[in-house]
Amino acid sequence: MHCKYICPVKKIAIFASGTGSNAAKIIDHLKNHKSISVSLIVSNKVDAGVLNIATQSSIPTLILEKEKFFRGNAFTDELKEAGIDFIILAGFLWKIPTALIKKFPDRIINIHPALLPKYGGKGMYGQHVHQAVIDNKETESGITIHFVDEHYDHGDIIFQAKCSVQENDTASSLAAKVLQLEHKYYPKVIEEVVLQT
Ligand code: GAR
Repeated sequence: MHCKYICPVKKIAIFASGTGSNAAKIIDHLKNHKSISVSLIVSNKVDAGVLNIATQSSIPTLILEKEKFFRGNAFTDELKEAGIDFIILAGFLWKIPTALIKKFPDRIINIHPALLPKYGGKGMYGQHVHQAVIDNKETESGITIHFVDEHYDHGDIIFQAKCSVQENDTASSLAAKVLQLEHKYYPKVIEEVVLQT
């Protein structure tokens, strides 16, 4: 819903475990946005590249501790205290616990580097996905942006985009094509969903 006068700013937290190239694109796309702010970068790894990106952009960070995430409050209190409205997963490799899903119903979005429902599920991340696509001689792959539910790579699909897989493609060359699609579409789709909610 668009409001006519002063809209409250929606705060998003980006969860990432690795390099954070998607996080960087999202931060860049939303900087100076009137009604959305990337307010927190969350990681399960103290040495994740995404933390440098957060520092460069002066965005606060939060490191998740495994026991508390899976058996404690899933950091829901910390996220609510920070005023977070949306959680964006960008290469985040831990499963999202039910406690967190319940506190953020339809407010957690993930990107998966394949055309779900194919090539999703436990263990299907990064190069594993692309290698499986190549091994099965698929002629196309792509990206899926979806809401997160209790199952891996399973919630309602918001958006998909495709790319071709050529005979000479390797897992690495396919990964590069798919990442380009992610960078092109993920920031815009996030903006649209957050503004509509
Ligand atoms: C992205 O390709 C993302 O789709 C994938 O991890 C990569 C993170 O790259 N996520 C998964 O495989 C989740 N199942 P980045 O750190 O450069 O944004």
